[in-house]
Amino acid sequence: MLIKIKKSWELAEREATPQNIYLNRRNLIKGLAGAAIATPLIGLPNIALAKKERMALHAQRNDFYKIERDITPEEENLKYNNFYEYGSHKQISKAAEKQLNPRPWQITIDGLVEKPITLDVDELIAKMGIEERLYRHRCVEAWSMSVPWIGFPVKKLVELAKPMSGAKYLRMETFSDKKMAKGIAQQSWYPWPYVEGITMAEANNDLSFLVVGAYGKQVANQMGAPIRLAMPWKYGFKSLKSIVRFSFVKERPIGFWEEISNQANNSEYGFWANVNPDVPHKRWSQASERVLHTGDRVPTLLFNGYGEEVAELYSSLENEALYT
Ligand code: MTE
Repeated sequence: MLIKIKKSWELAEREATPQNIYLNRRNLIKGLAGAAIATPLIGLPNIALAKKERMALHAQRNDFYKIERDITPEEENLKYNNFYEYGSHKQISKAAEKQLNPRPWQITIDGLVEKPITLDVDELIAKMGIEERLYRHRCVEAWSMSVPWIGFPVKKLVELAKPMSGAKYLRMETFSDKKMAKGIAQQSWYPWPYVEGITMAEANNDLSFLVVGAYGKQVANQMGAPIRLAMPWKYGFKSLKSIVRFSFVKERPIGFWEEISNQANNSEYGFWANVNPDVPHKRWSQASERVLHTGDRVPTLLFNGYGEEVAELYSSLENEALYT
């Protein structure tokens, strides 16, 4: 994770797009994408004909998952990302747009399952169905966003996979194709591929979500196309991007950042990574967070405000899950 916290989140007032403008623009883009499918001919603005235009996704919003904060404008989200496969800074969008090809994309489901399968991401999406949810998104670096994700609950993938009783954890893996991300070879000291793991109880919690879209369209490359995780009560580093493999396993997986911490012997990043204002990172406080598009500093909430949905998962672990 970044050692130096940049102040690039402190946007000038004029740079923050008011919600109504953003929503109108979103509708316009949606309309144009629809129009492009219906009449892919002359006279449309360039935006509809752009080579890598992301397809509009029409997903019903699940109103159970609402947030009281304004949604982070899409353009802010698109230019402030963590995706180390493209570099250790926030402005990785150009590299991700150029190098990552999210289709065709094969997903493997294996490990302790009745029948391992490999299928195309669009086949998986068609099987699962999609919905929209508004989630908070809190990075361990103490910045936060609010995102309209589109996807399906992880528990639906668990149902499809039919894990055996010996499966205790779900291990997930990001692609490691060096041609699709030059930063992998350029930063060979990192323990690629990016891996994360969660317990089966966490995987089956309704909040755990596999994201295939955002802001009404297929998810952008820099946000983790074509499929990434969103577990909003945990620090963002658990929510790995551009997943190629889901493995049901017996042993607890060691995540990318946990492995880096282990190698450095500094216990900065652990397995649970539950958002907790009372447990500082080894180098900074977690008591408050910077809301990215407003610049406001607001108090951090335990489990990022999702305690009602998830606190029970950790009741038998006492303090362990809150601290690591
Ligand atoms: N997944 C992969 N494969 N590589 C990464 O570097 N960064 C993580 C997570 N998933 C990361 C990743 C971190 S630290 C955060 S905070 C979130 O992605 C950021 O997601 P965002 O860029 O959509 O805000």
